Amino acid sequence: MANALSSATSHPFTLEDRLHLERLISPIQASAEEQTGGSDVISGLTQIPKSLPPRYFYDDRGSELFEQICDLPEYYLTRTEAAILRRCAGSIAQLTDACEIVELGSGSSTKTRILLDAYNQQGYPLRYLPIDVSGGILESSARDLLKDYPSLQVHGLVATYEQALQKLTPARLPNRMISFLGSSLGNLNSCECDVFFSQITGALQAGEYFLLGIDLHKSKEVLEPAYSDSQGVTAEFNLNMLRHLNRRFKGNFDVAQFEHWAFYNEDQHQIEMHLRSLREQRVYLRALDLTVEFAAGETILTEISRKFDLDVMQQYLKARGLEPVQVWTDSNQWFGLLLCQLQPAL
Ligand code: AVI
Repeated sequence: MANALSSATSHPFTLEDRLHLERLISPIQASAEEQTGGSDVISGLTQIPKSLPPRYFYDDRGSELFEQICDLPEYYLTRTEAAILRRCAGSIAQLTDACEIVELGSGSSTKTRILLDAYNQQGYPLRYLPIDVSGGILESSARDLLKDYPSLQVHGLVATYEQALQKLTPARLPNRMISFLGSSLGNLNSCECDVFFSQITGALQAGEYFLLGIDLHKSKEVLEPAYSDSQGVTAEFNLNMLRHLNRRFKGNFDVAQFEHWAFYNEDQHQIEMHLRSLREQRVYLRALDLTVEFAAGETILTEISRKFDLDVMQQYLKARGLEPVQVWTDSNQWFGLLLCQLQPAL
């Protein structure tokens, strides 16, 4: 931060000059149901076993609860990744040279600052392209960054990853790095993962970089408390999805009649988060004209959080033309950070 502020006087541009926001989705469309018309809720709740898309976690309250999760003592992911990043950000900046950073799911900018500080220290120009479906969060964190980094240029894209990756124009700095941190990759199933990587390799030019943060295999004694914390914040985050659906689709879920349930599926190497019905009950979502029957004990799968093997992931990335340049991990080998470079097509 001291580095960022020290160059304040040499940049006469105002904050507004340095902020460019582009909306590829309108504020109305930004809510999940407007993008899908609720068809994903209908298909998820009418299939057996029932499921709901994790995107419905993130109304305002859900985003706030997720921020709280990141600070929980049991939720090691955020602080482990940040510690790795603090240790290797200087090397990342050296390896990639002057490079604009495209961040998928930018959210709060703690980790971005670690990278910006490293590029700033190398004396590189700073250009940052955050991508998020929430225009409000994107703009407020962009403004905070612009205040603290007087030479920074921000071009924010209010968009889904897919829209933004299709829309990226060639980098304005000598290089570009797309970052996807926090092990958000783990919330995609393997088909979604394949689609995601074809979008990434479609958006990068040969020689450009991809920075990926992934949560690694570990014992369920560590994993399960991270998704069933002692303060009940994750339970609240999970149950909040029902409140969100009630509001969005004029539903009558009785939240007190469901409970949070998360466990580690060791065969699949994934945490599975469910909402379990405490009794036999019927729920009606008026906006979708959908009636859903629940048996006592029946569950809705709300999220998977896959845990990865570093070697397998490197092979997977290589096979897609993303050559790992360097890989970092922590002393427990709980979390991995991979810097990859897109190879020219053969
Ligand atoms: C956003 N994502 C990486 C989190 C995770 O760990 O899979 C979401 C989460 N769900 C419960 N706690 C955190």
